[in-house]
Amino acid sequence: MSKRLDGIEESATFRVADLANKLKRTGKDVISFSLGEPDFDTPLHIRESAKKALDEGKTHYTPSAGISELRESIANKFKENGLEVNPNEIIVTPGAKQTIFEAIQAVLNEGEEAILFEPAWVSYGPCIKLAGATPVGVPVRDEDFKPYDLVEWITKKTKMIIVNTPCNPTGAVFDRSNLKMIADIAIDHELLVLSDEIYEKILYNGEHLSIGQFDGMQDRTITINGFSKTYAMTGWRLGYATAPKKIIDSMLKLQQHSTSCATSFAQYGGIAALDGPQECVTDMVKEFKARRDLIVDGLLSLGIKCNKPDGTFYVFPNVSQFGTGADVAERLLRDAYVAVTPGIAFGPPGKDYIRISYAISQARISEGLDRIQKVL
Ligand SMILES: Cc1ncc(COP(=O)(O)O)c(C=O)c1O
Repeated sequence: MSKRLDGIEESATFRVADLANKLKRTGKDVISFSLGEPDFDTPLHIRESAKKALDEGKTHYTPSAGISELRESIANKFKENGLEVNPNEIIVTPGAKQTIFEAIQAVLNEGEEAILFEPAWVSYGPCIKLAGATPVGVPVRDEDFKPYDLVEWITKKTKMIIVNTPCNPTGAVFDRSNLKMIADIAIDHELLVLSDEIYEKILYNGEHLSIGQFDGMQDRTITINGFSKTYAMTGWRLGYATAPKKIIDSMLKLQQHSTSCATSFAQYGGIAALDGPQECVTDMVKEFKARRDLIVDGLLSLGIKCNKPDGTFYVFPNVSQFGTGADVAERLLRDAYVAVTPGIAFGPPGKDYIRISYAISQARISEGLDRIQKVL
């Protein structure tokens, strides 16, 4: 086995989901609060657009960076984020995860360090390690999961800061002052920023800000987004990024020699998603908000400490009064068939927490809360 994979853990979120599926196959009624994927169908106009592309024979390789019409649509979309970009500074990939992987491999060298705010999404660390670099976890504030300092973790080896707002797993949304602090430090220390904005639209309060739009940042920022969460398109595998052309060109080399391109007809669905009506997104977000209120109020009424996040479809309650997050996750699955992800999967500061993905119906959330109450 390759030494590069030593020390790379399997994805904790997929592991819990696999366990839940195994139990389901044995006939158990498992409530799955584990995987981060919207339970809605992909909106009809997006599916129709991909079907039309299939029927028209658009079933061949596309340019590795993505079809030009989609890159135009993405360039237009980035204007919303205050980013003026040329389509040749955009790459379309099979999922935002692939974009993140390519971006990290494109810029990090062996021995360099990349900073991430912990609790952090499970795949940044492994992608950094696969590049031969070292992830450096910077804890966020307990009370609101926002960053408070960064400078003391910066060393001569630091090359990049990863920002993920709205954040998986905490749901925290970084405000202007949080992002300004990060941007100022990135500029002072000449660092790159990878800004993962995949939950941009799953937002209940405040505004989404792209760090790339801050003065002096566009030249040092890789902005990543995708279709999975906003348009319920997880299985389509479609993501994208913009970055300085030099970085995009390196990512492109990696893509040409690995996946070639994103699926052709999925890319046509992507155009319909970005250029078509956005009410489908508003409707999904409205439902997510009702679910967030249901789960947060339910957990608080059980005496479980839980923040009310401004974005994403995750809550990250502190369960320390019942044991570690890993103990509680195990008990919930074993005794109540409720699948949640232990917070430790997102870094050491997550030890006392569990992550609940509330991308399931309100009826199932209520049932899940009843079961949690019985077990805890
Ligand atoms: C923070 C974050 N970034 C990226 C991704 C990857 O999304 P995609 O389905 O586009 O690969 C996810 C998916 O769970 C995520 O939570």
